[in-house]
Order: sequence, then C-alpha cells, then structure tokens
Amino acid sequence: MAAKARIGVLGAGLMGHGIAQVFALAGHAVSIYDPVAASLEQVRTRIAANLRDLGDDEAAAQRVQPCTDLAEAVRDADFVVEAAPENLEIKRKLFQETEALVRPDTILASNTSVIPITAIMQDLHERSRALGTHWWNPPFLVPLVEVIGTQWTSRAAIDWTMGLHAAAGKKPAHVKKDVPGFIGNRLQHALWREAIALVEEGICDAETVDTVIKAAFGRRLAVLGPLENADLVGTDLTLAIHKTVLPAINSRPAPSPYLERLVADGKLGFKSSEGFRKWTPEAQAALRAKVVAHLKKARADDV
Ligand SMILES: NC(=O)c1ccc[n+]([C@@H]2O[C@H](COP(=O)([O-])OP(=O)(O)OC[C@H]3O[C@@H](n4cnc5c(N)ncnc54)[C@H](O)[C@@H]3O)[C@@H](O)[C@H]2O)c1
Repeated sequence: MAAKARIGVLGAGLMGHGIAQVFALAGHAVSIYDPVAASLEQVRTRIAANLRDLGDDEAAAQRVQPCTDLAEAVRDADFVVEAAPENLEIKRKLFQETEALVRPDTILASNTSVIPITAIMQDLHERSRALGTHWWNPPFLVPLVEVIGTQWTSRAAIDWTMGLHAAAGKKPAHVKKDVPGFIGNRLQHALWREAIALVEEGICDAETVDTVIKAAFGRRLAVLGPLENADLVGTDLTLAIHKTVLPAINSRPAPSPYLERLVADGKLGFKSSEGFRKWTPEAQAALRAKVVAHLKKARADDV
C-alpha cells in the first residue's frame, strides 16, 4: 500500500464526509464528489468542525478537495469509495461511469449498507478490483470497516484495502462471502428480531428489553465477543443452553407483524416522536448526546 494514497470519495453526505475525514487525517490526498452543490459546499467546514471537536489536526480538512466533476475526483485515484444514496441503480451507474475514468488497477469500493456488492459491480469490465467497504456511523468514531469480497475480487485487492484501512486507524474485518447484511448487520438484526419478539409476545416492554441488554451483556460486549464468551464459559455449557433456549427463540424469516404495524400506524421512531417508545425532542437529544459521548470515550480509551 502506498504510504500516501490518492483517495476518491463519491457522495459527501453523512458517511462520505466522515470517510473523507478519516483518510485525510491519515495523510492521504482526498477528492470528494457530490452532484448536489449544498453537500459539497459544506464538506470542508463539516470535517474541520468534527476534527476540532475531537481534538484532531484541523489542517487535515485542507487535504480534502471538493469536486463538482466526477472525472476530476477520481483521476489518478488509487482507491475510490462510494457513499451515494442506498439505491442499486444509482450505484451501478456511478461505478460504470467511474470505471471509464480510472486506471485499470484502481480499487473500487461501495459503502452500501445492505445491497449485495455482486449486484452493484456485476457489469464492470475489471471486477477483480471491486469490493465492499462497509463503515459504521459515525465513520470517525466507530472503528470497524467490513471489507467484502465477491466471487471475482482478487486477494491482492482485499489485502491492499485491509492495509489501507488498518493504517488509517480502522479495524478492517474480511467478509469472505458477499452475503446480505455482511457480518455486523446479520448479528445486529438477529438480536433485534428477538428483541421485538419479546415485546410482541408480551414477555416485557420495549424499555425493559433495552435495560436488560445495556445493564447485562451489553456491558461486556465491547471487550468480550460472543465466541470468546462461549469459550470462557465452556462450549459444553453453551451446547446445554442452546438445547433449551434455541427452540424457544424467534426464527421468523420475515419482519415482525408488530414492526409492520408500527410503521403502518406512522409510529416511525424519533422522526414521528413515537416508535417502540415515545420520544420528546429533549429525550431524543439526550440519547444522541449520550451515544456520541460514549463513542468518544471509547475512542480515547483505544489510543
Ligand atoms: N447512515 C448510516 O448510518 C450508514 C452506515 C453505513 C453505510 N451507509 C450507506 O452509506 C451510503 C450513504 O449513506 P449516507 O447516510 O451518507 O447518505 P446521505 O444521504 O447522507 O448522503 C448521500 C450523498 O450522496 C449524494 N449523491 C446523490 N446522488 C449521487 C451520485 N450520483 N453520485 C455521488 N453522490 C451522490 C447526495 O447528494 C448526498 O450528499 C448508503 O449506501 C448507506 O446505506 C450508511
């Protein structure tokens, strides 16, 4: 991996500006493209404000070059990452246009949340350099980046991408098969399915589900993964627990009717002041602030 790479970021929204910030802080030259002038105009100010808030080098914002022209943003890039809207057609079209503008060895990555990388990249001429890099929000506070290979992705492209992200202070994780939800969202939503089922079945209310997680195994999760935990307690005990508990756990291969009903009733969470629970504007602001404070502390503890 080049010590100083040229990075192109496509999309200057919530994720794109944060990804650009991480690469700029790592010393790379970053160009960022967005067809919406308002997103592009505020990108440097937004990054500088984040850097100031985190106590990072504010000058890094100057290494981010906003571009109104896609060709200018990806010219001579070693690595291009796309953080455009979660829409298959937009992403496919963007990569087809980008492929015609970059070198044959430029690595092309999508930050899609759930769209299979195979579907996005299937029409490219050189598919061995195409992959997924799935960041978590906010990109400059959550360490993980899942690096997803398709059946066509070369080992060299995966290794280079893993090295690039590790050197920028991220924790890259290799996802060997392009499955829906990759690793993190499969695990997260397996838990959410059971959380919703507990409420649906009247076993407890939504607040209690969250309390049980936050006050019990949630406390350990940042330092003790489930498979470390299984080894810690013993695989024999894990097997005994699974024989009793797994038949009772929800395994519905579709969204919960309880969730469908919330959405149909317009109970959309923060944006409508009610979802599983009721949310005043003050409660929403307090929860957001609590999450950011927690992530900042975890980041400070990491270094
Ligand atoms: N928000 C999250 O928590 C999160 C986490 C992980 C992954 N993602 C994924 O990252 C991607 C971006 O999400 P976001 O939350 O930053 O969205 P966003 O709406 O904040 O930003 C998207 C940006 O893309 C721009 N855009 C529109 N058309 C474009 C085009 N043709 N080319 C380039 N840019 C274009 C928009 O103007 C906007 O600035 C999505 O695929 C999303 O699923 C989001």
